[in-house]
Amino acid sequence: MATQTLSILDNRTGKKYELPIADGTIKAMDLRQIKVADDDFGLMTYDPAFMNTASCKSKITFIDGDKGILRYRGYPIEQLAEKSTFLEVAYLLLYGELPTKAQYDEWAENITMHTLIHENIKKLMDAFHYDAHPMGMLISTIGALSTFYTDAKDIHNPESRKKQTYRLIAKMPTIAAFAYRHSVGRPYVYPDNNLSYTANFMSMLWKMTELQFQASPVLVKALDVLFILHADHEQNCSASAMRGIGSSHVDPYSAMAGAAAALYGPLHGGANEEVLRMLDIVGTKEKVPAFIKDVKEGKGKLMGFGHRVYKNYDPRAKVIKTLADEVFEVTGRNPKLDIALELERIALEDEYFVKRKLYPNVDFYSGLIYQAMGFPVEMFPVLFSIPPTVGWIAQWEEMLLDGEQKIARPRQVFLGSGSRDYVVMSKRK
Ligand SMILES: CC(C)(COP(=O)(O)OP(=O)(O)OC[C@H]1O[C@@H](n2cnc3c(N)ncnc32)[C@H](O)[C@@H]1OP(=O)(O)O)[C@@H](O)C(=O)NCCC(=O)NCCS
Repeated sequence: MATQTLSILDNRTGKKYELPIADGTIKAMDLRQIKVADDDFGLMTYDPAFMNTASCKSKITFIDGDKGILRYRGYPIEQLAEKSTFLEVAYLLLYGELPTKAQYDEWAENITMHTLIHENIKKLMDAFHYDAHPMGMLISTIGALSTFYTDAKDIHNPESRKKQTYRLIAKMPTIAAFAYRHSVGRPYVYPDNNLSYTANFMSMLWKMTELQFQASPVLVKALDVLFILHADHEQNCSASAMRGIGSSHVDPYSAMAGAAAALYGPLHGGANEEVLRMLDIVGTKEKVPAFIKDVKEGKGKLMGFGHRVYKNYDPRAKVIKTLADEVFEVTGRNPKLDIALELERIALEDEYFVKRKLYPNVDFYSGLIYQAMGFPVEMFPVLFSIPPTVGWIAQWEEMLLDGEQKIARPRQVFLGSGSRDYVVMSKRK
């Protein structure tokens, strides 16, 4: 089969180069041979924010942003959201196939058996100030786990990786719930291994003095679906951070603290918190046109709209919009929903948003659901960090096992000063 190539003619030298094309890409390193002289470093690509650079080959998650398609290991997200559970999806993302009954039972048992955290981790969390942001607590605690599980350094050992995988997926809800209980001054609730992954998380968040917390099955299911939707999103900012940090061969806890930190930002996992603040600023449905006008004049962004990859309706946002109705049946309607619906209606008809292909993303409606369930906005990024633990680990492991990967180390275009001599302070102007 003839290899496809790209011919490049360098007008500076008159030389012609044939670069192989594979999987719709050329290798950036193949450009290095394009030089004007022997001491020339060679041609590089300049790609701030990695707008058009594939940094890895992956088999985990497929996104077609123009068509609004998201698939985990080939399975459409809509089918998984409807038919699967978060723990089953976790297995699928990590191991590539849906589990058999026996595989699932063993998997769920292993996760369940690792939900407790060391008492000293609890003490560490206690040390945070009473008004500490729960996301700051989460990030620090994930990093601290590496000091408790020193075997995690053995990253080339599959058994060690498996153990850390159980620990991370199992302990994230516990740490997240402890961060929440700390912020509201309530005693920590230990995991209840008789409950499902999501129901146990809700118990650790909201149990008071009752013997067993009874969560609404509708809300348990809704949270489980939200977890499925957020389990992986290929090379987003936090997954790239996980891969980038992990490429130095640090332990997975340290890498994951970095991934969670990336997710904290308002342009990533902090966006749903911003959506609610925005809805508060808009205030009423009547003020929506004026707000949209301000956005178009560059006075702010319509949070929860737009996406680097999706140039169509985010498929996760569609699932969440349906979910919202089911949740509001139980919790009562979030009054901000009307403002959100009006924002969406007007924006989807407005030329500014249409031309730029700005559609609601996953965060546009998720915050409304979280709020209706009783989560304070500070908990949103914390919630949003639990499910991608699975994706981060899957991406990290894929990176470690990929023979083409090395320590991540981008190049730069240096535009600063040339060489100059040091000037003593007394002589500086
Ligand atoms: C997600 C996001 C960071 C993607 O950014 P990006 O791929 O770099 O896209 P750009 O910032 O280049 O946007 C392209 C154009 O759309 C505009 N735009 C993008 N998102 C917008 C928004 N939410 N509201 C208004 N205008 C927006 C930009 O101003 C830009 O306009 P211009 O071409 O006139 O300069 C961006 O859409 C955003 O900030 N959205 C709000 C935050 C959010 O919801 N994040 C959650 C993501 S899941």
